[in-house]
Order: sequence, then structure tokens, then C-alpha cells
Amino acid sequence: MTATALQDAPVQANSPYFEETVLWVKHWTDRLFSFAITRPGSFRFRSGEFVMIGLPGEKKPILRAYSIASPSFAEELEFLSIKVQDGPLTSKLQHIRPGDKVLLGKKPTGTLVIDALKPGKRLFLFGTGTGLAPFLSVARDPEAFAKFEQVIVGHGVREVAELAYRDLFTREIFEDPLVGEEAQKQLSYYPTVTREPFQNQGRFTDLITSGKLFADLGIDQAKFDPEHDRIMLCGSMVFIKDMAAICEAQGLIEGSNAEPGDFVLERAFVG
Ligand code: A2P
Repeated sequence: MTATALQDAPVQANSPYFEETVLWVKHWTDRLFSFAITRPGSFRFRSGEFVMIGLPGEKKPILRAYSIASPSFAEELEFLSIKVQDGPLTSKLQHIRPGDKVLLGKKPTGTLVIDALKPGKRLFLFGTGTGLAPFLSVARDPEAFAKFEQVIVGHGVREVAELAYRDLFTREIFEDPLVGEEAQKQLSYYPTVTREPFQNQGRFTDLITSGKLFADLGIDQAKFDPEHDRIMLCGSMVFIKDMAAICEAQGLIEGSNAEPGDFVLERAFVG
């Protein structure tokens, strides 16, 4: 070990963050991008959890909570982010390139995990915008297909270009060596767009209360079935509030890690 490494060692050990290397970056639109970083050997998380991600700042690091988009066993850690031109973190983070360093919190946590749901038959994952991120993790985990007969990924966006990961859910996942076969039989993808023409249009709140979502998916029911349906929600404050009200009105009970329930929610990364 060199003298420099010895001097650095105590700081590294006490730091609440790992310093990881950017592996790739993919820009979807001028408002949306994905990136992946290296995964420290000691970093454990459950599919669907979030973690602090950041960059060193002038005085102190700037960090925000990000859902991990890769499943719990993945070799790299993937994230989906918005770009806010005057946002303290994303104004800088959007310019990262492979080889750059990113700070990764040491304590992932969250409620969008299968453990926070009671057993059921059908798992609905509803995300708007970057709220899709935790479901990229959950829906690529064999546990979802082992515990539920059907997994439905719903992604709601304003414009078609914001349907990030559309290729994953319409093609790539069916070739995945781990979940491909299960996905072919058990996975449904329901993208919906609100401000442009598209095959599915409208907000999830309206699609659910009108029963159109169930009809489009070929599910023979007009509302959620509290006995068999389990739901995860991730998006803006107002989206999760309105969706939670619908879930409750239809007889579902919110769950947590301490007390599993019929639905769970989390706010998506916002700025
Ligand atoms: P809309 O275009 O009608 O506002 P945002 O970028 O604002 O988070 O929105 C992402 C998607 O979520 C958009 O399709 C938006 O529809 C939809 N959305 C926003 N608020 C709600 C809500 N309260 N309930 C259902 N969908 C919502």
C-alpha cells in the first residue's frame, strides 16, 4: 500500500458513500436519461429500493434519492433520471460520461418491494415518468414471476418519446435468460400517453375508474380485486395521492415493510 492510500483509508471507511465509476449513459430525450455505475461487492439491496446518488459539490456533496432500476442480483447499478436545467444535481449529472465518478449511498431502502405486499395473484406496477425506475428492477427479478401469476407494468407519460424502456418491455425482456420464459407467459406492458396520439391514451386514474385498463388487458373485472390484486405506485406526489385514493376506495389497504398490505407507494425523484 502506498503512503497516499494509507492516508486515505480512514476517510474512505467512515464515508457514508461509495465512489463508483460510470459505465454507460443513454439519453432518451432532452428531459430524460439512464446511466449505470459499478456495483461495490458489499452493496446489497432488494429489487425496488432506492439509494442516494450524487456528485461532489463545492462545499459538500449534492445527493438525491434514486430508485435502483436494475434487479437485486445485477452486476451494475442502473438509474433513470430526469434532467432539470437549473436542478442542483441533475443539471450536472446529465453531463456524466463513462469513466466519471458518482457517489453512491451505502444504505438502500424503500417500500416498493415484494416483501411489503401480501401474497396475491396479480401484480400491477404503475409508474409515471421516472416513476418507472423501481419497476424496471422488480419486473426483471424472477421473484416477481415466482410470487405472482401475472405482472403488469404500466408506464404513463406525456409524450411518446418519454416511453423509455419500451424496447425492453416489448422485446428484450422476452429474450432475457433469467426471466424471458416467465415474462412471455406472465408479463403485460401497458404504456399510456396523455398529450399526443398513441395506442393507449389517458391517465391511469381515469383508465382504472372507467374500467378501460382492465378491458384493454383482457382482465374480466371492472375494478381491483382486494383478494388477488397487489399494486405498486411511483410518480409525482399528486399521482400517488390520487392513485392511493382509488386503491383505498376499491378496498385495498396500504402496506409497509413492517406490515405488508395490498398496495405500496413512493414518490419518484423530482429535482
Ligand atoms: P397529464 O399529461 O394529463 O398531466 P408528470 O410529467 O407531470 O409527472 O406526468 C407524467 C404523466 O402522469 C402524464 O401522463 C400525466 O398526465 C400523468 N399524471 C400527472 N398527474 C396525474 C394524476 N394526478 N393522476 C394520474 N395521472 C397523472
